[in-house]
Amino acid sequence: MARILVTGGAGRLGRHVVAEIAPHHEVTVLDHIAPASDLPSIQASILDRDAMAPAFTGQEAVIHLAAHDADAADRVDETEFLRTNVEGTFNVFYLARRAGVRRFVHCSSVAALNISHENPPEYLPIDQNHPCRPTGAYGLSKQMGEQVARRFAMFGDMEIVCLRPTLVVYDWVVHTLITTSATVDGPPVPAVPKKPEWQGYDEVIPGSRSWVSGFDAGRAFRAAVECTDPGFGPWFVAATDNHTHLPTLQLVEREFGPLPEDHAPERFAADPRASIYDIGPTTAALGWEPRERWAEVIARLFGPDGLDDPRPLEELFP
Ligand SMILES: NC(=O)c1ccc[n+]([C@@H]2O[C@H](COP(=O)([O-])OP(=O)(O)OC[C@H]3O[C@@H](n4cnc5c(N)ncnc54)[C@H](O)[C@@H]3O)[C@@H](O)[C@H]2O)c1
Repeated sequence: MARILVTGGAGRLGRHVVAEIAPHHEVTVLDHIAPASDLPSIQASILDRDAMAPAFTGQEAVIHLAAHDADAADRVDETEFLRTNVEGTFNVFYLARRAGVRRFVHCSSVAALNISHENPPEYLPIDQNHPCRPTGAYGLSKQMGEQVARRFAMFGDMEIVCLRPTLVVYDWVVHTLITTSATVDGPPVPAVPKKPEWQGYDEVIPGSRSWVSGFDAGRAFRAAVECTDPGFGPWFVAATDNHTHLPTLQLVEREFGPLPEDHAPERFAADPRASIYDIGPTTAALGWEPRERWAEVIARLFGPDGLDDPRPLEELFP
């Protein structure tokens, strides 16, 4: 049991993280909106050091999630991304160190790498040594946030763990991901959504079709705060497979161009739908492994026959 401050704990990922850790730790949420839960919370901006300083008193660990996520691009300009995600991150590190916090889990993103057609992977699978070449303000802000984290790690008085989640998939976006993947990648055709609150999903779906469930992402943050000697990382947080039935190498060629050098051909031979991101080092460092593969999420939400396709889910998404 530890006292843990979760910034951004009222957000989408934050809710999963808080749900995972609150039964085991004394959690306080710091966010500029009120959390849905009745946990102790402080409403303050991470851009306002004075307002949020009292929240750090007595905390043993900080999980820092507060940020403008990629989907804020239609609401905030580039400067605002950098201010909140870099200057705000600096403020949170500064106050955590001043308060004597022992463990700091920093939430970065695979967006720091910007794997895309303009920046194809240099090699596969992608590990923590792969270069980061962000062009968008969000990806740049996440890369700069990691630099801030490294700077504070150099002082040596606070254990800092940096996690890079890929697209975090909440239950209410699964239907849209199935629909979009079906349109672009071919059948199966989508299931009928069963709940009215399952809204459309406006973010651009990554070419890699990489994903991680909110549940597994929450577990990764808990592992990062609880494990012994995790090291800085940055550690990828991704499901072992992709949210499409296409084999990964075929997808990579179509989305990013000629296949790069494959450092682990046996990995794609054993699991043709394996993620481009290597979570082996994450498992070694944190003891975390994702529990959900794509077929399991579909079966959980829509039932084993939920897709309008005669083939069983295990055959479609092995
Ligand atoms: N959603 C994804 O697919 C994804 C993938 C990789 C990384 N991430 C990272 O996960 C973290 C959480 O993202 P999310 O998807 O839950 O987004 P979200 O927008 O749902 O949550 C972000 C939270 O941060 C809070 N916040 C924003 N600016 C703040 C400020 N100035 N002061 C205090 N609180 C502030 C918001 O109120 C919100 O509750 C972010 O760091 C994001 O970059 C998200």
